[in-house]
Parts: sequence; C-alpha cells; structure tokens
Amino acid sequence: MAQERLDKILAKQGFGTRKDARRLIRQGLVGVNGAVCKAPETHIETSTDVLTVEGKTLVLKTHYYFMMNKCAGVVCSAKDGLHKTVFDLLQETPPVTPLRKVPTEMSCSESDTDEVDTDKVGTDKVGADSVDTDKVGTDFSDSVGSDFIAPVGSDADADILAPIRQSIISGELHLVGRLDIDTEGLLLLTTDGGLTHRLISPKSHVTKTYYIRLETPVSPEEQKTYSLQAEKGILIAPEGNDEEYLCKPAALTWISPLECTLVITEGRYHQVKRMMAALGNKVLYLKRQAIAELHLDETLQPGQYRELREEEILLLE
Ligand code: URA
Repeated sequence: MAQERLDKILAKQGFGTRKDARRLIRQGLVGVNGAVCKAPETHIETSTDVLTVEGKTLVLKTHYYFMMNKCAGVVCSAKDGLHKTVFDLLQETPPVTPLRKVPTEMSCSESDTDEVDTDKVGTDKVGADSVDTDKVGTDFSDSVGSDFIAPVGSDADADILAPIRQSIISGELHLVGRLDIDTEGLLLLTTDGGLTHRLISPKSHVTKTYYIRLETPVSPEEQKTYSLQAEKGILIAPEGNDEEYLCKPAALTWISPLECTLVITEGRYHQVKRMMAALGNKVLYLKRQAIAELHLDETLQPGQYRELREEEILLLE
C-alpha cells in the first residue's frame, strides 16, 4: 500500500507545481472517494482511493525514473548528427533490471458522482503539464518518427523497449539536467516533470557531487587555497551563452594532488570545468557521483541504465 500527500500526487500527475496543486485543492476542485477535499496534506492510498479533478476521475499515471551511468562520447540531446545520444542508448539496450512499471497514459473519465463542485472550474492549469521540457531538459516534440533507430537485439528486447521508446517519442521521457559529452556518471531520466522541476529549477539547492581528475598536481598548501576559494564562491569566466558568474559556495575535498570531489548546488554551463579553470587548472576527467543523496549505482557499466527503486525516488523528493 502506497500513501502519498494529495498535492504531491497532483503535481506528479501533471497539474503543475505543488503550489498549483494546492491552489486547485483549496478551490474545491478535487475530490477523494466522492467528497470534496480541500486539505492538500491529506494522505491518499494510491492503490484504492478514487481521486477526481473537476468531477473527472483521475487514472493515476505511473512514471519512469531511470538512472544511467553515462559514458563519454554520448551527448545529452534529442538528436545529434554526429554523436550517439543517451536516447539512442535507451532504445538500443533494455535496462539492466526488468521494468517494474509501464507508464500508462493519464486519462480522465466522467465521474459517476458529481459531488465535486464543478462550478468553481476555472483554472487553465488543469490537465496541463506546467513544466516546460525545453527549460528543464530536452524538447522532443520534433523527434517523432524515423529519426529513432530500431531497437537491436532479440524480439524480447524489442518488447521491453517498446514502452520506453514510446515515452521518448511522445516527449514525456526527458533528461533531468545534462552532462557534457566527455563527462561520465549519474544521469537521471524521467517522465515526472514535477520532479525535474524541483531538482533543476534555479531556486532548488539540490547538491551534485562530482569526482574530478586534474591536469596539474595541486600541493597540500594550494589544496587549502582551492578549497577556501570554493567555499567563498569562485568567479567563473563567460563561456558559450553564459556570462561571468559568481558561483555559490561549494565543497572541495581532496583525494590526492590530482583528484578531488566537488559538491555544488547549481548547474551552470560547464560549471565544474569553469571553476577549475578559474583556479588555474584543467579538468581531465569528470564523473557525477551523486544528485542529492542518490548515488550512482557503480555496478552499472558505462552506458547501462536501470529504473530507480522506490526508496531511491524518495531520496530525490
Ligand atoms: N560541470 C561541467 O563542467 N560539466 C559537466 O558535464 C557537469 C558539470
């Protein structure tokens, strides 16, 4: 039995942010088991309770949450004329553990009961996915059709891959942030736009932990200076479309004169490489080890992926 707060469920189902969901609930537009429920904190038993929004029964949609150990040489975009994309990887090989759930389309059907006060209908948020996938990850709206390669391997592989492929084609499966082509490690992909929004919105302070190997050895004395600078905030030079920027305090921990881990709470373009460049060094190898308390499953070989376990999803919420 899985219990979850009502506002959280609605946000996950595409009714906007949790704030949007709370507004909807307080407006009296949401019903639980036939009665209007105006308390966003109400705990819902997702397998048995019946939810309605504006009088229509909500068929709860299950989401995909994947972690991939991204390998170097693969790009985090929908299409690339030159390089393989992470979406190509997803379609070529099944996840290393069997899929636990297959997302179903969220659908609303007319409710038999009419106990929800539909007079108050009036928000254009209902049914809309408030997360702009252009901003939060990748927009796949133009990627339907023949650009997607056919899955390779057995017929069984093709069957397993079909729903994943469908969620890519529909644009629902998207990246939670990106890694550079040469960066390895933890990459999240999900159909849950609410989670993505919470993890990568500029207001979020979710930590990202990186393992770094540098070009030039750093003496113990300099290591202290680097770490102090990181703690104070490093001014990074403009790059690409991103201007000069004073980074938020970060934690730099040394493993050896050439290796360290860096914990940052933001995700600017080439941020780690720019931070190290500002300190006068160069990143030769970069790997993301964790997002918040979710650590990369090191048993995943580069390029492999699997669904997150329930307890791992909770680490991100
Ligand atoms: N910082 C970088 O410089 N590159 C990445 O891929 C991630 C963070």
